[in-house]
Amino acid sequence: MKRTIVSMPGDGIGKIVLQEAIRLLEATGFEAEYIHGDIGWEFWCKEGNALPQRTIDLLEKHKIGLFGAITSKPKDAAVMELDPSLKDKGLVYFSPIVGLRQHFNLDKCIRPCQSFKGNPLNFIRRDAKGGFEEPLVNAVIFRQNTEGLYAGVEWTNPPKIVRDALETHPKMKAFKHVPSDEMAISTRIVSKNGCTRIIKAGFEYAKKFGYKNVTVCEKPNVLRETSGMMYKIAKEIAADYPEIDLWDTNIDAQMMWLTKNPETYGVLVAENMFGDIISDGFAGLVGGLGFACSANIGDEVAVFEPTHGSAPKYADLNPSIVNPIAMFLSACMLLDYIGEQEIASKIRLAIAKVVEEGKVKSYDMMKLKGSAEAISKGAATTQQITNEVISKL
Ligand code: NAI
Ligand code: MG
Repeated sequence: MKRTIVSMPGDGIGKIVLQEAIRLLEATGFEAEYIHGDIGWEFWCKEGNALPQRTIDLLEKHKIGLFGAITSKPKDAAVMELDPSLKDKGLVYFSPIVGLRQHFNLDKCIRPCQSFKGNPLNFIRRDAKGGFEEPLVNAVIFRQNTEGLYAGVEWTNPPKIVRDALETHPKMKAFKHVPSDEMAISTRIVSKNGCTRIIKAGFEYAKKFGYKNVTVCEKPNVLRETSGMMYKIAKEIAADYPEIDLWDTNIDAQMMWLTKNPETYGVLVAENMFGDIISDGFAGLVGGLGFACSANIGDEVAVFEPTHGSAPKYADLNPSIVNPIAMFLSACMLLDYIGEQEIASKIRLAIAKVVEEGKVKSYDMMKLKGSAEAISKGAATTQQITNEVISKL
C-alpha cells in the first residue's frame, strides 16, 4: 500500500536532513507519496503564522508527518522580522512545532537514546583499574509533550484576576511587595489524564520491548503537587506490571546518575520540560544531537522529527556538513509506527554498519569544528553520509 506522508522541512538544516531522509526512504523501496507542508520562520515573516492552517489541514487528512526543524526567535526579534504590512497587527510568535503538538494533542514524545557500536562520540568512563569502559546505552525517554512548564500558560505582568487568585496561596507572601508589572509567571499544570497516558505508554513500551525498569524522573519533594501527582499515578500503574520495576529519581540527581551509570536505565518518564532536559542529557551519551531522534504521538496523528533544531550557522554551508542520522532514525520511528518494522530495521542496521566501519564520518564524529574546512580535514558531507547508508542497505 502506498503511504502518504506530510513532509515539513521547516527551516535551516531541517530542509537538508529531511530531503536526505526521503532519498534514503526511497532507496529502501518504501512506497510513499510525500506532500509538502509549509511551516517555519518564512511563513511567520510572510504571513504572520509559522503554522499555516493549510499545513494543519494536510496533517488532519493524512495523519502522518515527517518534520525537519524550525527556527524560533524571542518575542521582540520575531516582530521585527515580520513583513511591514503585518507589523502593527499585534501578532505573537509561537513555536509551530509546539503548536502542532498541542493542536493534535501529540501528548507522547518518545526519544530513544541508543549507542551505536564504534561511535567515537559514545560515552566512556574510567574503570576501577584506571582503564576505560564504554557502557552501551539503551534508554528511551517518554516525555509528556503538551502539559507542564511548556504548556504556554504564562504571563509577564499578570492581569489582576490572576494576581488575586494567586494571592490566595500562602506562599505568595514572598512576592507581596513585587508589583505585577515587575512579575513574570510560567505555570506547571499537569492533568491526571496527561500523567496517566504518558506513564502507561512508558510501561507498555517497557513490556513490549523487554525493559526491566521504568524510571519516573521528577522532583516530588519540592514540586509536591505536580511531580507528586505524576509519581502517585506511576505507583498505581506499576501495580499492573509486576515484572517491571518502578524507580523514581529526582531530575537533578538523574542528570548526575546518567553520566555515572547510564546503562542502568531503560524507560524514563517525565513531564514536558524535565523530559526535554533528560533526553538531551542521554543524547549526549550516544553521540549528541546528530543522533537524537524522536516521535510525537497522539491518538490520531503522529509527527516524527530529529531532536535538534535548525542549526542556522550550518544552514547555508554548501555542501552541507550536518549529520543526517538523527533524521534517519526519526524516519525509522515513523516506519515502526506504520508497521514497516522490516524496512526500519534495515535502515538501522545500515547506519550501524556505517558507524562501526568508521570510514565515512560527519564533522561531529571527527570532533572537528563545524565549518566548511571540516570537509578538507576528512569529514563527510551530509550527502556522502546518506550515500554510504544507502550502499549498506
Ligand atoms: P540546534 O539543535 O539547532 O543546534 C545546536 C548545535 O548542535 C549546533 O550548533 C550544532 O553544533 C549541533 N547540531 C545540531 N544538529 C546537528 C546535526 N544534525 N549534525 C551535527 N551537529 C548538529 O539548537 P540551537 O542552536 O539551540 O537552536 C537553533 C534554532 O533551532 C533556534 O531557533 C531554536 O529555537 C531552534 N530549535 C528548534 C527545534 C525544533 O525544531 N524542534 C529544537 C531545538 C531548537
Ligand atoms: Mg530540546
